[in-house]
Amino acid sequence: MNNKTIFSGMQPSGVITLGNYLGALKNWTELQDEYNCLYCIVDMHAITVRQDPATLRKSSRNLLMQYIASGLNPEANIIYYQSHVPAHAELAWILNCYTYMGELSRMTQFKDKSSKHNENINAGLFTYPALMAADILLFQTDVVPVGVDQKQHLEITRDIAARFNAIYGDVFKIPEPYIGKAGAKIMSLQDPSRKMSKSDEDVNATISLIDDPDTIIRKFKRAVTDSMAKVTFDEQNQAGISNLLNIYTAITGETIKNIEREFEGKGYGEFKAKVAEVVIEELRPIQQKFEELSKDNAYIDNIIKENAQKATYLATKTLRKVQKKVGFPPLIRSK
Ligand code: TRP
Repeated sequence: MNNKTIFSGMQPSGVITLGNYLGALKNWTELQDEYNCLYCIVDMHAITVRQDPATLRKSSRNLLMQYIASGLNPEANIIYYQSHVPAHAELAWILNCYTYMGELSRMTQFKDKSSKHNENINAGLFTYPALMAADILLFQTDVVPVGVDQKQHLEITRDIAARFNAIYGDVFKIPEPYIGKAGAKIMSLQDPSRKMSKSDEDVNATISLIDDPDTIIRKFKRAVTDSMAKVTFDEQNQAGISNLLNIYTAITGETIKNIEREFEGKGYGEFKAKVAEVVIEELRPIQQKFEELSKDNAYIDNIIKENAQKATYLATKTLRKVQKKVGFPPLIRSK
């Protein structure tokens, strides 16, 4: 234990993919013994694009169970719903007042999402980074594991924190990014120039954490490759095969060189079947655990309740300090 705090979160939209698992969750499980970890289900961020309420509720619970099924210990880590801890919204409001329109309009995620959801460019989508900054800063976070697509949001978080500290003294710890191991960025099986995304409309593009073995075999069979007929890591000319190599190495821990050697002179069919096999074996215990958790509502409810309390306790400490600094009057407590 190093007493440092890690915070990260995922949006509960759709079913999580092999990409989320290998790119984030699997790394998180390796950090849990060393750090104090908070893993949030960011349902407040999710509503920056339109969600069906019943689906959102279900996906949030599924995500929480998938965190646990993937190996995160809910007693050692704080796994909770963002919306259960009002301090997120309260700090986000304050931070909004220390964040500039100019810097928000430079965010690439805002530009992407507003062009994709042209009919609903709402203010929440625009101020999304202030809420994310609040998530992180509430817990005096040391380290934030994020993918490259979220690095810009972490940088703005650091800027907002430094700006606030420059005015009021050392209120927030300035968080550092933690970029996971190389090779953990998993791409679409149908278009290896794009990230594997749970919002992809092409079901063959992604492996879901709850796909059954036959589905996994079929999706890998259909994965896009090339006509070079050799299993080598070459992202320029063999993006599809390189992606499969990344998946294989992330699961087995074998080096790319060794894997290339293993499949020298062998066909893509054989390689794909082997990749499918290791994925199936990796996901099997996760799926079993997920099944068990799905049947144990009382246990999950208890995790939800207790972790929300723990997170609220920690978050409120920072929030009260901030409220005091900006000049809000103290609460009057009854004797
Ligand atoms: N914006 C992140 C994403 O879409 C999710 C997120 C919200 C997050 N708050 C966070 C990640 C705080 C790390 C830390 O992937």
